[in-house]
Amino acid sequence: MTGDDPHGKIEELLGTETPFRTERRAYRPQLCPALDGKTGVTRPLSGFDLEVLKVATEQLPHVSQNKLLEIVPAEGQSRKAAPRRLGIVLSGGPAPGGHNVIAGVFEAARRAHPDSRLIGFLSGPKGIITNQHQEITEEMVGRYLNSSGFNMLGTGRDKIDSPEKMDKCRQTCKDLGLSGLVVVGGDDSNTNAAFLAENLRDIGTQVIGIPKTIDGDLQVPGLLQIPFGYHSACTAFATQIGNLNSDCKSDLKYWHFTRLMGRSASHIALEVAFQTHPNVILIGEEIEEKELTIHNVVRLIADVIVERAGQGKNYGTILIPEGILEFIHEINILIIKISYIIAAYNREASEEESFYKLSYEEQVQLIDNNDIWRDYDSRVFLGFPSLLQKGLLIPRDSHGNFQYAQVNTELILLEMVSTYLRKQRAKGIYKGSFRTQNHYYGYDGRGTFPTKFDCDYTYNLGFAAFSLLANGATGYMAAIRDLHKPVEAWQPIGIPLAPLMHLEERKGRLELVIQKQRVDLASRSFKILEQERSRWAREDLYRFPGPIQFCGPSADAKPMTLQLNSLG
Ligand code: FBP
Repeated sequence: MTGDDPHGKIEELLGTETPFRTERRAYRPQLCPALDGKTGVTRPLSGFDLEVLKVATEQLPHVSQNKLLEIVPAEGQSRKAAPRRLGIVLSGGPAPGGHNVIAGVFEAARRAHPDSRLIGFLSGPKGIITNQHQEITEEMVGRYLNSSGFNMLGTGRDKIDSPEKMDKCRQTCKDLGLSGLVVVGGDDSNTNAAFLAENLRDIGTQVIGIPKTIDGDLQVPGLLQIPFGYHSACTAFATQIGNLNSDCKSDLKYWHFTRLMGRSASHIALEVAFQTHPNVILIGEEIEEKELTIHNVVRLIADVIVERAGQGKNYGTILIPEGILEFIHEINILIIKISYIIAAYNREASEEESFYKLSYEEQVQLIDNNDIWRDYDSRVFLGFPSLLQKGLLIPRDSHGNFQYAQVNTELILLEMVSTYLRKQRAKGIYKGSFRTQNHYYGYDGRGTFPTKFDCDYTYNLGFAAFSLLANGATGYMAAIRDLHKPVEAWQPIGIPLAPLMHLEERKGRLELVIQKQRVDLASRSFKILEQERSRWAREDLYRFPGPIQFCGPSADAKPMTLQLNSLG
């Protein structure tokens, strides 16, 4: 309180604590029956065929023996637990709910023994490699409960991909005396978790992964419907699209081209479409199956614009998943070839000579001179708008992934659609007005407050991870089955990591990584989209979902795709 603010009014108004955060913090996430009591016990869960690739059994000889587990309430008198020292790391892109995983592990460990300790690694896997950590306290857990972001500990995308880095991780776990480590992350982070589990076995550190990613592509049919963070991010994006629906239906003058985050798979776009009913929705997996070229995609959008113009409707909303380029065959081939050429060149080059330090002309020349690059590739490449040409050369991430988030795909498509419509106008086919706005929703949605669904889900995941550790498991991912049902019916399980892995080209080499799941075109949800979207294109059946709520009737919302798929 300062002299200018004797009653603390200014401080109260401008303080970082908002009523919304206070309300959030007060909420106690609900636990499912198997986790709401004493630490549960594990037992094998049958009925699922989880095959492990030979290469996975070779690279992960111990953890590849793991069998599927379910966590059930402990019966009778439980054994007296000893205090445990555990570590936790948040990894990859942030996803709403991460702090509740920490809260779950912390509270489950304390409930089992009040002297248990939880160490948080800072800035992602780098924190384990360099032993940068902070002990998690009750005060921290309370302060961050139900809040957004990964800001309690920070995050990062480092891959533990060399014997040196693995040795450093071993040393850190030994120095800190950790009996368990929880890795919160997506496909790459859970791949890290599998290799850590294998390599930390002999020093007594068990490793459990937690399924996180707003992208929704970490799924295991019948066992893991969706990773955490997806529902919150989709709901935040749907709020924005609903607002655009509202604006364009009022002003009747703009076409909104909107790109949605989600890396390669189109799970986010699918969920947001159900929540908002846009006029055009692109699904990458469908484009691939129908073998559409970029020109076909442009045509698909333009046809809706022309048809609506014929009805006097020169406005609408268009959803474009950010990973669409991967599903357009002629573009994907170029992405793969260019990634391979970059990786091969960078392996030999020093940091200063890296591909990314070259001028654009030098980069193109280097690609042109490579044996795998054919004349046909050059013709395709040069036929693309310059924005797309430049986009294909952007830096790959530390795992060798193409960074879709860095390419303005909505602008590329907008420009191409505009060119096409000019030609249609010249032929007298199109007579409408084409005024546009372009948008990208991504980082904002992944930084949103978690929905109540994600608050509960993540808290249960934290408890499930602890139960797995307490029962001696390592090399597993904690998961919750039947998420479409009420929390009372949720079932915690441990999914072995090894069967989820396949070989994938990364940085020009085949690597064993957890397989991403794409949108299933045979799923109930996709079939429903197919039925509905032509009406959404012609009629204005916009849906306005509004912002994430924490109380009232929409507070208990769950992902629509999950609910539609569970209809069977
Ligand atoms: P994770 O898979 O690590 O959860 O990250 C998802 C994501 O948000 C993608 O949707 C997006 O393409 C990418 O991260 C952006 O990465 P960066 O944070 O490196 O810009």
